[in-house]
Amino acid sequence: MNTQIKPQLIDRFKRRVSYVRLSVTDRCDFRCVYCMAEDMQFLPRKQILSLEEIARLAQAFVGLGVSKIRLTGGEPLVRRNILSLVENIAALDGLRELALTTNGSQLPKLAPQLKQAGLSRINISLDSLQPDRFRKITRTGDLANVLRGIDAAQAAGFKHTKINSVILNGRNEDEVLDLLEFCRKRQLDISFIEEMPLGLIDDHDRALTYCSSDAVRASIAQRYELTPSDDSTAGPSKYYTMPGSDIRVGFISPHSHNFCADCNRVRVTVEGRLLLCLGNEHSVDLKSILRAEECDQKLLQQAIIDAMQLKPEKHHFNLHDAPQILRFMSMTGG
Ligand code: 5AD
Ligand code: SF4
Repeated sequence: MNTQIKPQLIDRFKRRVSYVRLSVTDRCDFRCVYCMAEDMQFLPRKQILSLEEIARLAQAFVGLGVSKIRLTGGEPLVRRNILSLVENIAALDGLRELALTTNGSQLPKLAPQLKQAGLSRINISLDSLQPDRFRKITRTGDLANVLRGIDAAQAAGFKHTKINSVILNGRNEDEVLDLLEFCRKRQLDISFIEEMPLGLIDDHDRALTYCSSDAVRASIAQRYELTPSDDSTAGPSKYYTMPGSDIRVGFISPHSHNFCADCNRVRVTVEGRLLLCLGNEHSVDLKSILRAEECDQKLLQQAIIDAMQLKPEKHHFNLHDAPQILRFMSMTGG
């Protein structure tokens, strides 16, 4: 896994794309209030990429210098035969890291097999440590099961497992310190995320539940001094460290701190749409290219190279207007 591949994905702003997030399903066993409407219509099977098509895409990206791939959803672990996809992608020469973002519900069962298949790292979403609240936020989730999933990931030998917590005023903003203590105790990294206006939701008004990363940092500062980490992994998270622990505390702040200048990533939806930016609709349909009769890896790669010209300079999220981005996070690839 150490072949040097010439980076070929560079956009108009000289940003190098080395990281791709591939959504493997729009489905999920949870219905988190910030992510989905209660009653969701999922995509019919023929509209979504097959596992074989997703693997071809991964191979094309890695051949262009992408060194990190993350599988997302929806909930990636509800896709049938996901382990075979993990195995195929993990074996690609030139890939440095294959990561997964999951809600944790299937980890009690799948963690050891994911490790075996070659997965490098796992992010697990966890917004509350109170069972009732956890149920309210996820609508269908069972906290105890997710906690077993976290244990299973660590027992299977995954290192640097990270917790993602979306913090909403009035829902869980009072749990910031509890979540942090949980992670300190278990040697888990944690990122606190500001809610993004993706998709029309009916549960709450996002302008009212908005909790800034500055507010979250202020809660933590009551107990721990945070030192900005010099870790400069490009990307949207700003990382900090604390005394008495070596875990990393990250903040993903699409509203309060624009992170676009360092953007190193693109996404592919499970319908095969290459999204150049989370907060814009600029996209290229890779599915029709994948399914064209004359399609080979060269054509596919050329389409990806050309698409880099469309990558916008930045997103324009705005909590107060109607959402400009109508796709949900589950359609976008968390
Ligand atoms: N804003 C911010 N984060 C979101 N997630 C899902 N929807 C949103 C949103 N609208 C998060 C989940 C999970 C990751 C996949 O994305 O909590 O951590
Ligand atoms: Fe599912 Fe993740 Fe969306 Fe929650 S945030 S509904 S776990 S995809």
